[in-house]
Amino acid sequence: MSGLETLKTLRDRDPNVMCIMITAFGTIRSAIDATRSGAFDYLTKPFDNDELLVAVDRALDNRRLTGELTLLRAELETRYGFNDIVGISPSMREVFREMAHIAPTQATVLILGESGTGKELVARAIHRQSARSKGPFLAVNCSAIPSTLVEAEFFGAERGAYTDAKESRPGRFEQAHGGTLFLDEVGDLPLEAQAKLLRVLQEREVTRLGSGRSIKVDVRVLAATNKNLRTAVTKGLFREDLLYRLDVLTLNLPPLRDRGSDVSLLVDHLVDRLCRELGVAAKTVSPEAQRLLLTYDWPGNIRELENTLRRAIVLAEDSVICGHDLPGRIRGAAEQEPFNPAATLAQVVEGVVARVERGMIQATLAEMGGSRVQTAERLGINRKTLFKKLKLYGLAASDEIETE
Ligand SMILES: Nc1ncnc2c1ncn2[C@@H]1O[C@H](COP(=O)(O)OP(=O)(O)OP(=O)(O)O)[C@@H](O)[C@H]1O
Ligand SMILES: [Mg+2]
Repeated sequence: MSGLETLKTLRDRDPNVMCIMITAFGTIRSAIDATRSGAFDYLTKPFDNDELLVAVDRALDNRRLTGELTLLRAELETRYGFNDIVGISPSMREVFREMAHIAPTQATVLILGESGTGKELVARAIHRQSARSKGPFLAVNCSAIPSTLVEAEFFGAERGAYTDAKESRPGRFEQAHGGTLFLDEVGDLPLEAQAKLLRVLQEREVTRLGSGRSIKVDVRVLAATNKNLRTAVTKGLFREDLLYRLDVLTLNLPPLRDRGSDVSLLVDHLVDRLCRELGVAAKTVSPEAQRLLLTYDWPGNIRELENTLRRAIVLAEDSVICGHDLPGRIRGAAEQEPFNPAATLAQVVEGVVARVERGMIQATLAEMGGSRVQTAERLGINRKTLFKKLKLYGLAASDEIETE
């Protein structure tokens, strides 16, 4: 059997086998054939033992790195599969349902949501659940690129195209070929760059700065913003035609304050993840801290919750995160109010209970889309009691009468 045939037989039996081909001097052609057929390296005779040892070392290093890469990929898979996006609230279930439909398509998706609601996490999950998952996922923060460099960043530049272009380089579209390009904060893109982006989305080809040659690109575009793009259009800050191009399918990520039932779940998930990331032993959250986390309205959404928990994990003296490990703004008005020496204990407790009740009712109402029947059910009280509390806390019109 020839060397090449032996190599093929070995690789058929085990595709992971690593071969170093040794060929006679002058038969360079068969060495090239060997690497094409999957040999890791080749040596030509005569060779000395050191050369062989270096080649074997290199092969072993390569195998170790490939193994690490596979592990890393598997880790990313779990991190960015839908499994990693926590949520059981009706609004998040709707998001998951839409994602499952959207992910396998080639469609452009516009992801909308306040800061910290998980836009990038969702974009990565869409990529991982698409046919492009083996291709690259590239995130570009449009607000972080100086307007003079946007074009070079997106479309690439030939050497000398502008003062600092010392080397020719591909743009993000070329780099994302075969994969997904995530245009984060797309609402901050300068108008001029918007026009060029529109052209690429229509024609699916880019031209590097300083070049006359257009290059075909196969890229799926996902975009995100926390801005209202329609308002930006009316103010002349965003091109209407680009909005229509991007707004083929829209995913609206709800703010955390409207996802009351997700908070406890997110707390558990994030504490678990953050303890592992910080390399500390697992911690739990005390009922008091849980209550404070539940009643705060999270203007910075999940990012704020994550940062709060990271800080609390570091501050907690033992394995339980307590109320005093949370920042003052979350511990709530009760602890920030100046102490009233005239108040009785019962009055103070009544005030705290009222604040917690009001917060929970508001959050649950929002989550249930305003349905009082479902809100009462979720809170475990009857409708009459809920109505009384709504009036007490000024959440129902003062002249409103309960109807059956
Ligand atoms: N549903 C979720 N389940 C678990 N973790 C989440 C969820 N949503 C967001 N996170 C986490 O919260 C953090 C913020 O999410 P992400 O960066 O995706 O938000 P964003 O909307 O892009 O925020 P920004 O507008 O600030 O860029 C990340 O660490 C992310 O892993
Ligand atoms: Mg983001």
